[in-house]
Amino acid sequence: MTTAWNKSGWRNKERIQMPEYTDQSALNAVEARLASYPPLVFAGEARSLRAKLASASRGEAFLLQGGDCAESFDGFNADALRDTYKVMLQMAVVLTFGAKVPVIKVGRVAGQFAKPRSADTETVDGVELPSYRGDIINGLDFTAEARIPNPDNMLRAYTQSAASMNLLRAFSQGGYADIHHVQEWNLGFANAQGSAQKYKDLAKRISDALDFMTAAGISSDSTDSLRTVDFYTSHEALLLEYEEALCRIDSTTNVPVAGSGHMIWIGDRTRQPDGAHVEFCSGVQNPIGLKCGPTISEDDLLRLIDKLNPENEAGRLTLINRFGAGNVGDHLPRLIKAVEKEGRKVVWTCDPMHGNTIKSKSGYKTRPFESVLREVQEFFAVHQAEGTVPGGVHFEMTGTDVTECTGGVRAVTDEDLSSRYHTACDPRLNASQSLELAFLVAEELESRREEQRKSA
Ligand code: PEP
Ligand code: CO
Repeated sequence: MTTAWNKSGWRNKERIQMPEYTDQSALNAVEARLASYPPLVFAGEARSLRAKLASASRGEAFLLQGGDCAESFDGFNADALRDTYKVMLQMAVVLTFGAKVPVIKVGRVAGQFAKPRSADTETVDGVELPSYRGDIINGLDFTAEARIPNPDNMLRAYTQSAASMNLLRAFSQGGYADIHHVQEWNLGFANAQGSAQKYKDLAKRISDALDFMTAAGISSDSTDSLRTVDFYTSHEALLLEYEEALCRIDSTTNVPVAGSGHMIWIGDRTRQPDGAHVEFCSGVQNPIGLKCGPTISEDDLLRLIDKLNPENEAGRLTLINRFGAGNVGDHLPRLIKAVEKEGRKVVWTCDPMHGNTIKSKSGYKTRPFESVLREVQEFFAVHQAEGTVPGGVHFEMTGTDVTECTGGVRAVTDEDLSSRYHTACDPRLNASQSLELAFLVAEELESRREEQRKSA
């Protein structure tokens, strides 16, 4: 971290994908108020996540990052939050069994509100309006008024994030996350009608392992880690006025920390090495994610690594790859080779969502489950060939029964998309599709272990 960094330094850099607020005094008042509020997370938590991600970079842990594309004010309620949390725990148990290492659970939640857009405006029936940029910035309604950026939305996003954080902490520590309950939910999924035999088999093996542990005296009563979990939050650090206002100095280390979430990431559209977003993220001690799409060059990646992780600390930087099924072989090997050659420590993770968005025949933005799975499989295959570590996965998903992505064992068809298409932004995997994917990723992790055992 450069000593000259300060939390407002991004204001001197080129900024893109950020709103032009029209009422400067209202904006200043909101920033001052947020700056006086408590942070949503504490530096010690961000450091503990960093240490866990360092393990993931060595293959001694595996990252599961997931949640909404965009949180919304209207869609906020305890049931929806609980359902997504529950599916993430279910996935984590399945992945832990496949990987035989701890799974780090990080939600896209409690701050995932601001969205980069491919176009500045949107035209409907000949009417052109500014694009929707997420509830923290403007409104989804297609009216000129709703689309005006409103600084007050930041206060509402903060309040919703604080309430979400509170509930997630309660779920994590209060008994809801007990591994035995989670495994019962998994059995429910695996044994449901229409489910594949291989999911039943894997679920049964997990149950057998838990029964064995209980018999050996390792139960939820005796062992805290079977009853509680560490659950972390993350979001794209896109709206830098909000990030700056929640930035704090950690009293233990005197190093700045983003108080808005445990992990923050830089989007594929805002990763200019000299841009505002990279500047802000370079100075906070949180673990940082960097989205890497097909257009990233090896030189850019190395420059970004120099800026974001100059001391080459494991766990500081997670590269979230999103190339699209069929394209991983064209991009991941060249990036891996560049990083390995320079001896840079990173966590490699796969976001199989953002490179696989298509328009369905019926006109919906969707993602085929087969493409999502295929990108994950290509990611594992490239790491196998390069001898590097596949450190995790990154999904847009929800615990509710939406119809936004097509495919899966309980197949969602193009005709189904209109029935429960609720996302404010990109299409998410529903609960069943998310779990199915976890079972399939667990298979990849198991076969990777087998390969390693054979070559050991
Ligand atoms: C996202 O994660 O929602 C997103 C916009 O991703 P990307 O920056 O990779 O396009
Ligand atoms: Co998205």
